[in-house]
Amino acid sequence: MKIKKENIYRVSEKEFNDFSVNFIKEKLNSFSSNEKINVALSGGSTPLPILKLLREEKLDWKKYNFFLVDERVVSVESLESNFKNIDEVFYQFISSNTFPMLKKKSTVDEMIIDYEIKMRSFLPISKNGFPKFDMIILGMGKDGHTASLFPKTSALNENDAIVVKNEIPHLNSTRITLTFPVITTCDLLIILLKGSGKIKVFNELNAGLGYEYPISRFLESNANWIISE
Ligand code: 6PG
Repeated sequence: MKIKKENIYRVSEKEFNDFSVNFIKEKLNSFSSNEKINVALSGGSTPLPILKLLREEKLDWKKYNFFLVDERVVSVESLESNFKNIDEVFYQFISSNTFPMLKKKSTVDEMIIDYEIKMRSFLPISKNGFPKFDMIILGMGKDGHTASLFPKTSALNENDAIVVKNEIPHLNSTRITLTFPVITTCDLLIILLKGSGKIKVFNELNAGLGYEYPISRFLESNANWIISE
């Protein structure tokens, strides 16, 4: 299985952020429905400069609900928190509804139950029974992980739950993450890959190899791959 050529956007390092923000803005604007538009954002560093540019765009921000793709189980004030990092560069500047995964004085299981309730009450349910996002923005690590779906971790095999806890032993990190069934139910995946280590993974995937990488689950999807060295 190879990635559809028309879904690959190779840009220079210099153009990456501007190209990505224009691509995302266009897609956000393309949703004509007067219903709320539900978007899930990944953490990590790649999206942050893009979100910093996106916040300046004249969009009807109250139309959008922003969820998280995944979160590190840390204190809500931690610099490790995906929600905190996105909030500082993006959420604070727009008037959209936002949905953190971390909650003070809650156990991880309580946070997960709470997030599932929120997803099920705000998102339409697809024919396959899973909540359907309008858009999901993903990153990828050099090990081919995406969301917090890391190689050799239990969440890779989750086919029923929509949001789960996932232990990442080599990072000594506990994560909360959306699962593959939810991510693949979304028709508009945007995968942001920047850096030579990630391009190596992409080239393997694009050569029909790399099935051991978690992100290879999206080879058969209509995902949009924005890539740069
Ligand atoms: C996280 C992310 C993760 C991220 C990749 C890439 O919580 O870290 O959700 O999946 O997208 O690790 O991270 P960078 O963009 O920082 O390279």
